[in-house]
Amino acid sequence: MKDYTNYNLLNHNTFGMDVTARRYVEYDSEEELEALIPTLSGVVLHMGAGSNLLFKGDFDGTVLHSAIKGIELVEETADELLVRVGAGEVWDDFVAWAVEHGYGGVENLSLIPGEVGASAVQNIGAYGVEAKDVIALVEAMDLSNGQKRIFGNLECNYAYRQSIFKNQLKGKYAITHVTYRLQKLPILKLEYGNIKAVLGNQEKVSIQSVRQAIIDIRNAKLPDPKVQGNAGSFFMNPVVSREKFLSIQKDYPQMPFYEVEGGVKIPAGWMIDQCGWKGKSLGRAGVHDKQALVLVNLGGATSDEIITLCNTICKDVHDKFGIDIHPEVNMI
Ligand code: EPU
Repeated sequence: MKDYTNYNLLNHNTFGMDVTARRYVEYDSEEELEALIPTLSGVVLHMGAGSNLLFKGDFDGTVLHSAIKGIELVEETADELLVRVGAGEVWDDFVAWAVEHGYGGVENLSLIPGEVGASAVQNIGAYGVEAKDVIALVEAMDLSNGQKRIFGNLECNYAYRQSIFKNQLKGKYAITHVTYRLQKLPILKLEYGNIKAVLGNQEKVSIQSVRQAIIDIRNAKLPDPKVQGNAGSFFMNPVVSREKFLSIQKDYPQMPFYEVEGGVKIPAGWMIDQCGWKGKSLGRAGVHDKQALVLVNLGGATSDEIITLCNTICKDVHDKFGIDIHPEVNMI
């Protein structure tokens, strides 16, 4: 276990904010977590790899980080597997493991930054697949009394980038393990965007080639946080009513969209791009030049600069399209 006071978080948040936590604790097991719960006081923030958050300043509380590791096959049937993974495993290490073993279900989620615990909080998603499609169980510990609880998939209230852990139970539980349901005979999902185009005319498409295609698409579009601070998509894609969608489509017939439950989803990145923000900046906060949904730290940006850019973009999108967009990134 690591336990530090006045700990610098620069290397623990992909936006590259130079901030400090009053206390930082990294635990390696459920037993260690249980033992440290009585020592917690004040505000507690459970972090993963810090790839989806923006610190607004120093954190006057305790940051917890799980280093619970392990990938374990717990059940196998004729065509499915249940795999239990420690919350502190790097998400893409688990995806690589699944693909190497020929187990399908997570290959479209290749190269998403972050850790396994956060996949279940954030319901990470990309290229037509969401974590909720493969999560069977989530094991968690109540941070008020150390009691363990197992959440079935339906109990997690999953929706687009939402879960019970981000809403009703926000800050109340630490996720210790996630059990995923994978397929022995993978069902490939190739419908989203340009996956098929990137795969080209391959005779036999495998989960290995899908993983490679997704890695190539992401590398071409998304900035590497090691090179330029960012937290992936800064905004969520809004869902609007069919009437609203049709009225905008009259003026913008090329607008991309996806039919979803309850309305039509319009890519916020496209709207921000239409507002002329792609590749532009305000101070040291910028809009990525290949994907306008991603805000970047151009070097030494403060959180105020990022937030000012965020607010300016939201206003411009509202003024042009009459749609409110909201950050996906958690601001702390
Ligand atoms: N578009 C533009 N200009 C832009 C950006 C996008 O015109 O600057 C258009 C694209 O051409 C496309 C549409 O908007 O027609 C959607 O773009 P894209 O496929 O890149 O996906 P997205 O909706 O912008 C979402 C996720 C990403 C995920 C991709 C692929 C959210 C908030 N973001 O982005 O997730 O990788 O789909 O599935 O849902 C993340 O969450 O950090 C993330 C990167």
